[in-house]
Amino acid sequence: MQMHPDVNKILFTEDEIKAHVARLGAAIDRDFAGEDVIIVTVLRGAAIFSADLARAIKTVPVEMDYMAISSYGASTKSSGVVNIQKDLSSPITGRNVIVAEDILDSGLTLSYVLENLAAREPKSLTFMPLFIKKGVQKVHIDVDYPALEIPNEFVVGYGLDYAEKYRNLPYLAVLDPKVYSK
Ligand code: PRP
Repeated sequence: MQMHPDVNKILFTEDEIKAHVARLGAAIDRDFAGEDVIIVTVLRGAAIFSADLARAIKTVPVEMDYMAISSYGASTKSSGVVNIQKDLSSPITGRNVIVAEDILDSGLTLSYVLENLAAREPKSLTFMPLFIKKGVQKVHIDVDYPALEIPNEFVVGYGLDYAEKYRNLPYLAVLDPKVYSK
């Protein structure tokens, strides 16, 4: 496979990601048979994953909804407190909500988002990250479905960016340090 010149190692290929997303879609079809689900996407990184996940669900009816959040300042990543810039378009009370996330990192931002969604009293709330950075979580978040584990390195691709670039790479790769040490 042709690698982008700014990355130096592919951790998960396009085919490996596709196979994993297909398994997650099949698991949703199995576990939510006879029900319907809303896939919630927290912009922007998760948009690629959620679009593929939705298409990997073959039988369960799917709705898609989106949230945009922003930090209150530089401390956000350590406090997890976020500002909701764009809220969901529809209520989720009594619904099966699946939060499709690209990556579980510290978990701080995501636990805040999940608490916010739980307060709206959905019928079920499932957190489904595609990738998990090993050993860096600062809070515990339940993950009910298998995720692809990655080391604590600067990764890009499949939705993940560096300075808003590389989200379009179809694989997950380690960014070459030459790019950010310039
Ligand atoms: C990243 C990533 C997850 C979140 C993980 O998003 O896409 O959504 O952070 O954070 P946590 O595990 O530390 O709580 P980012 O804030 O970089 O925004 P983006 O999706 O627009 O790239």
